[in-house]
Amino acid sequence: MSRLRVDVWRGRADGRYQRFEVPREESQTVLDVVTYIQRHLEPTLAYRFACRVGMCGSCAMTVNGVARWTCRTHVAKVASDDRLEIGPLRNLPVIRDLATDMREFFDKWARAKGQFAPTATRRDDPARVAPESRSRAAADAGIECIGCGVCYASCDVVAWNPDYLGPAALNRAWTLVNDVRDAARAERLRAVSGDAGCHSCHTHLACTERCPKQLSPTASIAGLKRATALALLKGEL
Ligand code: SF4
Ligand code: SF4
Ligand code: FES
Repeated sequence: MSRLRVDVWRGRADGRYQRFEVPREESQTVLDVVTYIQRHLEPTLAYRFACRVGMCGSCAMTVNGVARWTCRTHVAKVASDDRLEIGPLRNLPVIRDLATDMREFFDKWARAKGQFAPTATRRDDPARVAPESRSRAAADAGIECIGCGVCYASCDVVAWNPDYLGPAALNRAWTLVNDVRDAARAERLRAVSGDAGCHSCHTHLACTERCPKQLSPTASIAGLKRATALALLKGEL
C-alpha cells in the first residue's frame, strides 16, 4: 500500500512541523488524512471540523501553502510526490496545531454591520422580493458564504494591515446593502468606508480565486466602493 508523508503543524505560532506517515486511500480527502493522524498516530492533535460536506466552514487549513476547505479537497488533487504539508490558516492567531482563533474574523463581520436589521415585525406579511431585480441578483451572488476564512487567509492586505475588514466581512456587508428588507444601509456603508474598509482592497483577486464556494468577494468590494462613493457625493455619509 502506498503511503503519504505528511508534515503537520504542531504547537502555536512558534511551533514546528511534525512528520507522519499515512496510508493512501482512494477518494481520500485532506480532512481524512488529518483525522487518521488524530485517531491512530497522535491523539493530542488539535483541529476543527463539523459537517464534512462543505457546509459548516470549520475545516479550512493551509495545504501545501494554499488555504483550502479540507473536507472537500481530495489528496489526489493537491499531493505532490505523495507529500502533504498541512498548517493552520494564515492571518489568524493559532490556538494550537491546526486550530485558529476565528474571533477577530467574526468580530470584523460585526464591525462591517454584517447583521440583518429588519424593517418588518413578525405580524407583517412576508416580504416579496422580485427574483429578477438587480438588488436581489447582487445579494444572491454573495449569500452562500460559509464563513470558512479561506479568502481572509489568502488576502495580502489583511497580512499587511490586520485592521482591514477583509473579503468575507465586506462580502457580507454588500449582500445586506442589496437586501431591500434591511434598515441599516447608511450605517453599513459608513462602517465599510473607513480606512480599514473597502477602499483598502487592492483588487488582488486572491480571495476570489480561492473561495471554495466560487463567490467573488472582489466584485462585492467593488460594489461597496461604488456605493460608498455615490453616498458620499449625495452627502449621505
Ligand atoms: S481582492 Fe481585495 S479582499 Fe480580495 S484578496 Fe485582494 S486585496 Fe484582499
Ligand atoms: S467568501 Fe468564500 S472563502 Fe470567504 S469565508 Fe465566504 S465561503 Fe469562505
Ligand atoms: S467540515 Fe464543514 S465545511 Fe468542511
